[in-house]
Amino acid sequence: MVIECMRSKFNLKSNPPGHVAIIMDGNGRWAKERLMTRSLGHKFGAENFKSITRYCGSLGIKYLTVFAFSTENWKRSSKEVDFIMGLFEEYLNKSLEKFLHENFRVIFLGDKNGFPSKIRDLINRAENETQKCTGMVLNIAANYGSKAEITSAVKVIAQKVKNDQISIDEIDETLISNNLYTSNQPEVDLVIRTGGEKRVSNFLFWQSAYAEYIFTDVLWPDFDSKCMDRALKEFSSRKRRFGGMTVDS
Ligand code: FPP
Repeated sequence: MVIECMRSKFNLKSNPPGHVAIIMDGNGRWAKERLMTRSLGHKFGAENFKSITRYCGSLGIKYLTVFAFSTENWKRSSKEVDFIMGLFEEYLNKSLEKFLHENFRVIFLGDKNGFPSKIRDLINRAENETQKCTGMVLNIAANYGSKAEITSAVKVIAQKVKNDQISIDEIDETLISNNLYTSNQPEVDLVIRTGGEKRVSNFLFWQSAYAEYIFTDVLWPDFDSKCMDRALKEFSSRKRRFGGMTVDS
């Protein structure tokens, strides 16, 4: 009911951005403030991820990309990494029916080979079984880094040139885009980073070339639908020029 009210409010006022990306930061600090272990912070973070995902779907956002685990996050303690892997496994095990019910198409961005085979199989199953869903595309960036993604695209393209499948002149922005994990998806309109840090952290460099950024101090487990509404309202007030000029300037 609440979600329905929010949806009509937004449809009346503005169209939501087509592609929203979120850096879900601050789970550890949220837990520390409550004298909990960092891992429990991730558990609450994962619960919030599920609610915000549903909320974005209800608002009519077509693409939602979340940064769940970076190529650098493996450097954390094995206890924390194991806990996050456990959350992925539990989420993937329990959520397939919900994805299908919500008509969400799930796509993982990142190198799946880095995951234990049990999780890799669950990722493949979620991607395959939701392939025909026509609602929101939920990109889960996991074992993801923008530098690794672009490096991998360069290697694929270089190999094609080497094999005489394409010429150097055929390398253009579209070809590069089509060799990223987000192949055939629109560029990101809005990146939200929770947790107070004001950096990009190796997330969607190419896809966010003209995105608007919103940085908030709210820690991820506390970033609720009202925070999302505020971010979307701020986004709708931004004048996007894509390198050109505004009409009135
Ligand atoms: C950043 O907070 C968060 C992460 C590295 C992990 C994010 C993972 C989740 C929200 C769970 C996702 C779960 C599923 C099922 C997709 P941080 O640990 O860096 O927080 P800090 O900056 O306060 O230490």
